[in-house]
Amino acid sequence: SDQLKKKLPLADIKILVTAGPTFEAIDPVRFIGNHSSGKMGFAIADELAHRGADVTLIAGPTSQTLKNPAIKLVNVTTAAEMLEACTHYYPQHTACIMSAAVADYTPVTVAPQKIKKQDAVLNIELTKTTDILKTLGESKRDDQLLIGFALETEKEEEYAVEKLRKKNLDLIILNSMNDEGAGFKGDTNKITIIDKHLQKTIFTLKTKTEVARDICEKVIQLLNP
Ligand code: CTP
Ligand code: CA
Repeated sequence: SDQLKKKLPLADIKILVTAGPTFEAIDPVRFIGNHSSGKMGFAIADELAHRGADVTLIAGPTSQTLKNPAIKLVNVTTAAEMLEACTHYYPQHTACIMSAAVADYTPVTVAPQKIKKQDAVLNIELTKTTDILKTLGESKRDDQLLIGFALETEKEEEYAVEKLRKKNLDLIILNSMNDEGAGFKGDTNKITIIDKHLQKTIFTLKTKTEVARDICEKVIQLLNP
């Protein structure tokens, strides 16, 4: 089966994938999270492994499971933990696909005890998290690929291209929220892939498994120019 594996398009290529939301603690019983299911990232990890890749998956809290037992799963909870895991693992990998829905803000302090209800209004002070993708983009080597996602509700392509440039990406996958059924909660996505030469590929509404296959094919193309 070692002989068989060698014939696969991503045989022995090391790829890092992130998936799911991050949870940012407010107090011992509460957190700020988001609706990311982790489905997209888990599907990408499985499809890459199916094509022979050596996959490390860094996942925030999700109920997803992997089909392929060869994938190395690293569980994290917060944006800070995901940053630490990503900066640790990226140098040993040829590509990173950042599909996680990382919190943009985290509470300045975590209350040591459960916050008791008091006034009519409660303010929780938040501070910006580190942009993981941007951090990886700053240390990216010539022999590495970096792929990000963009979730937009307006000026989709303009904002996606801005992120591609600002974060030094090779590809950005624009997740359209415009279509019924698309989005990070459900089972389908409508994506547009934009590369660093601003070449665009528009896809129809598909299941997340099908979308994961399209993304894999793009990665294979990039690795075999
Ligand atoms: N991302 C990241 N670290 C963060 C926030 C986002 O690595 N702290 C990554 C996401 O995983 C995704 C990409 O950046 O691959 C774009 O995420 P998105 O939320 O669309 O964009 P932001 O840059 O966070 O900007 P905004 O939310 O304001 O649109
Ligand atoms: Ca964001």
